Parts: sequence; structure tokens; C-alpha cells
Amino acid sequence: MNNPVLKTFADIEPLSQWAARKIVEASRASISTRGRFLLALNGGGTPRRLFELLGSDFRGQMDWSRTHVFWGDERCVPPDDEESNYGQAREMFLNRVGIPEPNVHRVKTELEPAEAAREYSLVLKRFASPPQSAADLPIEWPRFDIVLLGMGEDGHTASLFPGSSVDSTEPVTAVTGHYQGRPANRVTLTPLALNSARTILFMVTGESKAETLSRVLGEARDPKLLPAQRIEPKDGEVIWLVDRAAAGKL
Ligand code: 6PG
Repeated sequence: MNNPVLKTFADIEPLSQWAARKIVEASRASISTRGRFLLALNGGGTPRRLFELLGSDFRGQMDWSRTHVFWGDERCVPPDDEESNYGQAREMFLNRVGIPEPNVHRVKTELEPAEAAREYSLVLKRFASPPQSAADLPIEWPRFDIVLLGMGEDGHTASLFPGSSVDSTEPVTAVTGHYQGRPANRVTLTPLALNSARTILFMVTGESKAETLSRVLGEARDPKLLPAQRIEPKDGEVIWLVDRAAAGKL
């Protein structure tokens, strides 16, 4: 893995502007080399400004017809529930950009969580990249061009919660995790799929995350308790976009 890159911004506005520009650049490069751009989204409050920007100032800079949108994790609530990660992205930008419906790949939360995870792994399989050489084993999920991730005050990322198993044998799984009263039943991509990404953008803001961020980025490794440390792409980059408040203890 390349060493993670850390970029510190005054606040969420320049951080989100930077992320939007990175997404535009990555989409152009991906479409020109591979004909498509595969973007995995997160939920929570941190990406909301970025989503607004993608649906407004940056809308015309993306080729949405060749962009495919996925989710790194989803809460098991109906798609129109205000806690739905899909619902949030749908309302904040997907409805505004003219992306073709077949390019939006949501987790089917109307199914039982384990069934929804199985169904989503089949969705991912349809986008699996062919092996680069005869020596490579085929993988059953795509190499995402960009994965957006956040981090909780407890060090969780996507829906990989502290104490959960670090050995993922499936690319997608159903989990239960409690955090700030948010829906506990989730479907999440695991490090198996996330660590195939070309670029991972972590977005972290606020003083309440400063202590955890310093532990996650510190020398000591404890991926069982700090799931954000499980994110180590084999052949990709990790960029941490943080505001000054979150960077306060680095
Ligand atoms: C979710 C997320 C989750 C999120 C963190 C941080 O569905 O809740 O994908 O991993 O990124 O909980 O959330 P905030 O941005 O709200 O702090």
C-alpha cells in the first residue's frame, strides 16, 4: 500500500470542494481509460456538502451516463426513510444530475439484511474487473475508482464496527452496530472489497473525532478496535481529508 496522504482544511467547505474536484478528475481518467467510473458513497453528515456540490456547481463536469454509483454501507431502513444512505444521496444530488436509473446500485433494504447482503454481492459481481494477467485470481467485485468513507468517534468506518471480525471472507455482509442512535442493522462492504479500490477518500471533521483520528493514524495497530485501520488498499491510495478541528491532536 502507498502511505496514506493527509490533507488538512480550514473547514468542511474547502474540504468538500477538494473532494468534488478529485471526483471529477478521477471520473475523467477512469472513463478515458476504462469507459466507466465506479463511485461508492457513504452516509452520515460529513458528505452532505460534497453531495450538494455534486448536484450543483460540479453537476455539469461529470459524465453521469458513464458513472455508476454504489454504497459502501447502508442502514436497513426503507429507501425513502430519512436515515437511508441511498435516500440521502438521492435527495441531495442523484435526483438533480440526470444519472440513468440503471447506474444507481442501491442495497435492497426491503429484503432481510443477510439476503440484501447476498443480493448486493451479486450486483458487485456484475462489475468485477477481469484479471489483469493469467496469474491473477479473478475477484468477484469491482475495483472501485473512488470509495468515500467517514469515521465515527469510535473508529468505525462504513459499517465495520469496533470488535467485529477482522477476517472478511465475503465482500458484503450484514451486521449490527450501535452508534449515536442511528439504525443498528446494516449491510456493509468488507475490507475484501473496499481494499481493492483505486482511491479511498476518508472525510473526517470536528473536534470530537480528533482523539480517535490520532489513534487511527498513529503507529500502534489495533484494527479490531479501530476498524478504520482495516482500510489498507493493496494497490491504491488513501487520502484523509480532515478539518483543523479533527486534526487537532495529530
Ligand atoms: C453511515 C456511514 C458511517 C459514517 C460514520 C461517520 O452509514 O453512518 O457510512 O460509516 O461515515 O458514522 O458519520 P458522520 O459523518 O455523521 O460523522
